[in-house]
Amino acid sequence: MEKYVINGGNKLYGSVKIQSAKNSVLPILAAAVLTDGEVTLLNVPEITDVKNMVKILVRLGCKANFSGDNLIINSSSANNFEIPSELAHELRSSVFLLGSLVSRFKMAKIAFPGGCDIGLRPVDLHLAGLKRLGVEITEKNGYILCKCEKLTGNEIMLDCPSVGATENIMLAAVKAEGVTIIQNAAREPEITDLQRFLNSIGAKVNGAGSSTITVEGVKTLGGAVFRPISDRIEAGTFLVATAMCGGKVVLECACAENLISLIHKLRENGCKIDIKNDKIILESSRRLTSVKSIETQPYPGFPTDLQAQITALCCICKGQSIITENLFETRFKYVPELRKMGADITVINRSAFVRGVDKFKGATVVAHDLRGGAALVSAALAAEGKSEVLDISHIDRGYGRFEYKLRDLGGDIVRAAV
Ligand code: EPZ
Repeated sequence: MEKYVINGGNKLYGSVKIQSAKNSVLPILAAAVLTDGEVTLLNVPEITDVKNMVKILVRLGCKANFSGDNLIINSSSANNFEIPSELAHELRSSVFLLGSLVSRFKMAKIAFPGGCDIGLRPVDLHLAGLKRLGVEITEKNGYILCKCEKLTGNEIMLDCPSVGATENIMLAAVKAEGVTIIQNAAREPEITDLQRFLNSIGAKVNGAGSSTITVEGVKTLGGAVFRPISDRIEAGTFLVATAMCGGKVVLECACAENLISLIHKLRENGCKIDIKNDKIILESSRRLTSVKSIETQPYPGFPTDLQAQITALCCICKGQSIITENLFETRFKYVPELRKMGADITVINRSAFVRGVDKFKGATVVAHDLRGGAALVSAALAAEGKSEVLDISHIDRGYGRFEYKLRDLGGDIVRAAV
């Protein structure tokens, strides 16, 4: 186990390069299993979820090697359609491989996926969509077993705009016979990026970013060199951290249009934000006022993956806020940790009621999941005195070189063994 040791109180100044989006790279890695062509992904983040997804691809018989920041995948030697539980439990994205494996092998066997402990995380919509394409599915001893004679295009209506279900169905539909139409599809930028990748290797996908995605089945796919989009959640995390600590930070390789909901809220808090091409510049005096209410919604609403971070910010703004988490059942596990730092915050059902205090006080806190952990680091950087954030393996899942980037901005943070 490792921890961060943080001495709070420094303002943040300088620039930080934003990584490629974790939640784009992961489904694209699953998509690479569809083709025998060589796929090179550029600027891939050095994070645990990517390393675990690569381990899964290698277990399937694919070749996958890092070359600096780039990742080269060749699935022509893939010869296995089973993902063992010890790998599937490592990350939620293992479930995306169902679509790719049934497309390639007409078979798939995956243990129920793991991932952040933020809610029930069912996969019923994934499985219902695959069944509509002709896949027979059984669940036995904690495994999902899929098989089909062939995949046939169909119309699919999602009960809710699930990101993963949308992606899984897209992957299964790419080489199906005929046309697939996905209604009530998720509209996240990572879905649009998956469409851009799939079309770069020869697929025919249209409509991503809207609620209706159309996939026209093709027979063959090729290779590509592809740069995934910028990680809007990493970018949002750095914007909120700077708002909390005060200072002026320039995000490089960022995409402001994917962060409009957060940018509006931070401007309401009193932050000065300028946008210049792929740069986002935030300046904060640290004397901020609360936003009255924040509700997480599917894109383009306020992202659930920035809920913990904005709640931590609200804890040290003047006034009161109500933050409501509409997507996941238990995404407030970081709240008791913030209370240890002096936050005045109460959770009732799906809402956190916050009364702003002047500042956090340093404390020893525990990360319970990826984004909650990142919120605790930001709170510790803004706090008065010394903090320790334990179990930072959760944070390593999604933030590459996190402490290095924060130190480059003036944050006093070091990684240490527990
Ligand atoms: C993706 O998870 C992201 N993960 C999550 O980011 C993100 O929070 C989430 O989308 C929402 O934006 C990746 O892309 C790897 P969903 P996913 O299916 O696909 C319900 C992070 O921190 N649902 O859109 O699992 C579900 O219970 C991670 O980077 C069903 O009911 O999210 C939830 O309430 C955390 N049945 C809602 O939909 C299903 O079959 C949204 O889930 C699937 C989902």
